[in-house]
Amino acid sequence: MTLRKNLVVLAVFHILSWQAWAKVEVSMEDRVEVYQGDMVDIPCMYTLSQKSNDVVVQWFVKHTGNKKQIFYGDDHTETVEPDTSFHGRINVTHHLVGKKGTSILSIPEVQLSDERTFYCSIKASDLGSAEGHTRLLVFKSPEVPSIEPVYGGIPVSNLGHSKIATCKVNNGYPHPNITWYRDRTPLQQEDENVKVMERETIHPSGLISVESDLHLRVIKEYKDSKFYCEVSYFVPAGLKMTESDRINITVHYASTKVTLEKEYPKGLVKEGDNVTLRCRGDGNPQPPFTFTFKGEDIEAELDMLILANVTQLNNGTYQCKSLDVDTYEEFEDSMELVVNFLQPAEVRRISDDHSSVLLLGEDLELICTAFSTLPTRTVWSKDGKQIGEGDKLLMENGTYEMAGTYVCKVTVPSLPELQEQDSIQIDVHGSPDMVQPVMVISEDNAERSVNLSCYARGFPVPFINWTFSNPESFQAVSETLTETNVYSVVTVKAISDVNVSCIAFNSYGTISMSYSVSATQITTPVTTSTSTWTKAAGSPSSPKQKGKRGGSGVIIAVIIICILLLAVLGSVLYFLYKTGKISCGRSGKQDLTKVKPGKDDMVGEMKTDKSEETVLLQGINGDKKLSNDQ
Ligand SMILES: *[C@@H]1O[C@H](CO)[C@@H](O)[C@H](O)[C@H]1NC(C)=O
Ligand SMILES: *[C@@H]1O[C@H](CO)[C@@H](O)[C@H](O)[C@H]1NC(C)=O
Ligand SMILES: *[C@@H]1O[C@H](CO)[C@@H](O)[C@H](O)[C@H]1NC(C)=O
Ligand SMILES: *[C@@H]1O[C@H](CO)[C@@H](O)[C@H](O)[C@H]1NC(C)=O
Ligand SMILES: *[C@@H]1O[C@H](CO)[C@@H](O)[C@H](O)[C@H]1NC(C)=O
Ligand SMILES: *[C@@H]1O[C@H](CO)[C@@H](O)[C@H](O)[C@H]1NC(C)=O
Ligand SMILES: *[C@@H]1O[C@H](CO)[C@@H](O)[C@H](O)[C@H]1NC(C)=O
Ligand SMILES: *[C@@H]1O[C@H](CO)[C@@H](O)[C@H](O)[C@H]1NC(C)=O
Ligand SMILES: *[C@@H]1O[C@H](CO)[C@@H](O)[C@H](O)[C@H]1NC(C)=O
Ligand SMILES: *[C@@H]1O[C@H](CO)[C@@H](O)[C@H](O)[C@H]1NC(C)=O
Repeated sequence: MTLRKNLVVLAVFHILSWQAWAKVEVSMEDRVEVYQGDMVDIPCMYTLSQKSNDVVVQWFVKHTGNKKQIFYGDDHTETVEPDTSFHGRINVTHHLVGKKGTSILSIPEVQLSDERTFYCSIKASDLGSAEGHTRLLVFKSPEVPSIEPVYGGIPVSNLGHSKIATCKVNNGYPHPNITWYRDRTPLQQEDENVKVMERETIHPSGLISVESDLHLRVIKEYKDSKFYCEVSYFVPAGLKMTESDRINITVHYASTKVTLEKEYPKGLVKEGDNVTLRCRGDGNPQPPFTFTFKGEDIEAELDMLILANVTQLNNGTYQCKSLDVDTYEEFEDSMELVVNFLQPAEVRRISDDHSSVLLLGEDLELICTAFSTLPTRTVWSKDGKQIGEGDKLLMENGTYEMAGTYVCKVTVPSLPELQEQDSIQIDVHGSPDMVQPVMVISEDNAERSVNLSCYARGFPVPFINWTFSNPESFQAVSETLTETNVYSVVTVKAISDVNVSCIAFNSYGTISMSYSVSATQITTPVTTSTSTWTKAAGSPSSPKQKGKRGGSGVIIAVIIICILLLAVLGSVLYFLYKTGKISCGRSGKQDLTKVKPGKDDMVGEMKTDKSEETVLLQGINGDKKLSNDQ
C-alpha cells in the first residue's frame, strides 16, 4: 500500500459522517488543490468496526446540485460510469487490510471542469455505510501581465479623470486580481482621484482574462511617476504576484514663466560667432514663442533663435514672449547679448610729426592702440624677440641697433581667439659711425700694394672720401653699400710713406680714420701699414683728396704701361736667352724683377726674407696693431 505524499502529510481530517451505532467510519481531506494538467489523488480512508469481506466503494461527484456516481466497485466488479466526463480519465485503487481500508481516486490530468466536490461512500453490507467528501480546487497561473500606456499627452485637469493605462492579464484560474501602483503606492479604488474599470472574459476553456483601465485625476507631478499593475492569483497552497513593466506618462501643463538663455557659445561672444538663444517655458509642451530684438519680431525656429556670424548689429537686448492659449496670460523674459570685438591694432609714434625716424642718441616713444570691449594685453617684439609689454614702448638714447621693425600684438586674455597686431619700421638717423673690424685686407708684395678698408655706418648711408698725403699712391677703390652701411676698400701703392684717411660723412656729420703706410728702404718689398684712427667730426686733415670713383683711369693707365713694359722685357729676355747670356733659375727671376720700371728704388731687393718681414711688421705697427693676413 503506497500512500501518496499528500496522504502522508495529512491535514485536517474530518469525520463527515458519524452514526452512534455505525460500524463504518470514513475520513477525507476537506480540500485538495492542484494545477490544471497535473495529476491528483483524492484519498478516502475508512475504518470498519469488524472485519468484513463484502465492501462496496462508490465515488460520486456533485455538479450543479446533482450527485452523480462515477465509480462503483465491490469484490467482483469495478466500474467507471461510462456516460460521465470522467470515463477513461480516472483510476480508483482499493486496499483493505484488516479493518482499515483506503480507496484512492486518481485523475492523471486534471481539467478545470474537475473542480468539484468528490464523495466517497463505503458500504459494508452487515455494518452499514458511511460517506465522506473532498473539494477539488484546480488552478492555472495567468500569463505575465501587459501594460499599455495612453500615448500622447494627458492634460492636467481638476475636473474629470483621464485614462492612464490599460493592464491585461490572460488565462488564469481562478479570477486573478489587478492592483494599480503609482511609484510604490497602490492606488485605492476608494480614492476619489482614482477610477479603475475592469472587464473579465471567461474563455470556453474556463480560463479567465482580466483587463483593467486606470483613470486618474492627473496632476503635474505625475510626469515623473512610474505606473504599473500587479496581478495577484491563487496557486495550490498559496498566493502569487507578478508585476507589469513600468510606464511613464506625458503630462501636459501650462507654463507659468519663460526663460531666455544663451545656449551657445558657452562663454563670451565675439564677432563672427554663431549664437544660439533658447527660450523655455516651464510647462509641457513648450508654448509657441515670439522673439523680439530692438522692438521688432525676428524669425526663430520654435524655441531657438540662431544668430549666425554676429556683428555689433546683433549686440543688444533680446526678448522672448509666450502666450498661454487657454488663459491668454503672457509671459516674457529678456537677456543682453554682448558681442565683443577687438578692433585692428594701430601702432604709431607719440610725437607731433609722427615720423618714424629716431635720431641717434635721442628718445622715441611708440603707442599701440586696439579698441576692445574687453581688457587687452599688449606685447612688443622686434626680430621675433619680446622686448616690452604695455601699450607704450619707450626707446631711449637711440642707437643704430634700435633700427628695425617693431611689432605690437594685442590679445584679449578672456577671449584668446581675439588678437590683432601692427608693426612700424623705425629708422635711426645720425652721423656716421666707424664699425669694427677695421683691417688691412691684404698686401701684395709683387705689386707693392696694400688694400685698406673703411667700414662706416650711418643713416642716411654715409659717403666715403679717401684722402692721400701723396695722391700718386692711390690705385683703386671699391665700395659695397647696404641699407645703412658702406664698406670701402682702397688699394694703395706703397711707393713712399703715405698717410691715408677715410672720411665718412652724411647730412648729420663726419667721421674720419687715418692709416699711415710706410714704404721701407730695407731689402724687402713688403709694405706694411699701421693705422691710427681717430674719430673726428670735422673735415679731414689731409690737403689732397681723391674722389672714390676717380681711380679707375689711373689703374687703366698703370696696367697699360705694365703690359708695354712686359712686352719690352719679354723681347729682351728672349734675345738674351737666344744669345746664351741667361740661364734658368733663381738669378733669372732676379733679373726679371730688376727690369721692372717704375719701381727703381726696390729693384734688386726682391730677396724676400721671412724673418726680416716679421720683425719689420712688428716693429712698424704703431699704437694699433692690425691683423695682417698674408
Ligand atoms: C489509470 O486509468 C487509465 C484510464 O482509465 C489507464 O489507461 C491507466 O492504465 C490506469 N493506470 C493505472 C496505474 O492504473
Ligand atoms: C481578489 O479580490 C477579491 C475582492 O477583494 C478578494 O476576495 C480575493 O481574495 C482577491 N483574490 C486574490 C487572488 O487576491
Ligand atoms: C518615459 O518612457 C519613455 C519610453 O516609454 C522613455 O523614453 C522616457 O525616457 C521616459 N521618461 C522618463 C521621464 O522616465
Ligand atoms: C557658423 O555657421 C556657419 C554655417 O553653418 C559655419 O560655416 C561657420 O563655420 C560657423 N562659425 C562658427 C564660428 O562656428
Ligand atoms: C561674417 O560677417 C562679416 C561681416 O559682415 C563678413 O565679412 C563675413 O564674410 C561673414 N562671414 C561668414 C562666414 O558669413
Ligand atoms: C552691447 O549691448 C550691451 C547690452 O545691451 C550694452 O551694454 C553695450 O553697451 C552694447 N555695446 C555696444 C558696443 O553697443
Ligand atoms: C647714450 O649712449 C651713448 C653711447 O652708447 C652713451 O655714451 C651715453 O651715456 C648714453 N646716454 C644716456 C643718457 O644714456
Ligand atoms: C685689393 O682689392 C682689389 C679689389 O678687390 C683686388 O683686386 C686686389 O687683389 C687686392 N689687393 C690685395 C693686395 O689684396
Ligand atoms: C703722416 O702723419 C704723421 C702724423 O700726423 C706725420 O708725422 C707724418 O709726417 C705724415 N707722413 C706723411 C708722409 O705725410
Ligand atoms: C668728398 O669728395 C667730394 C668730391 O671729391 C668733395 O666735393 C667733398 O667735399 C668731400 N667731402 C668731404 C667731407 O671731404
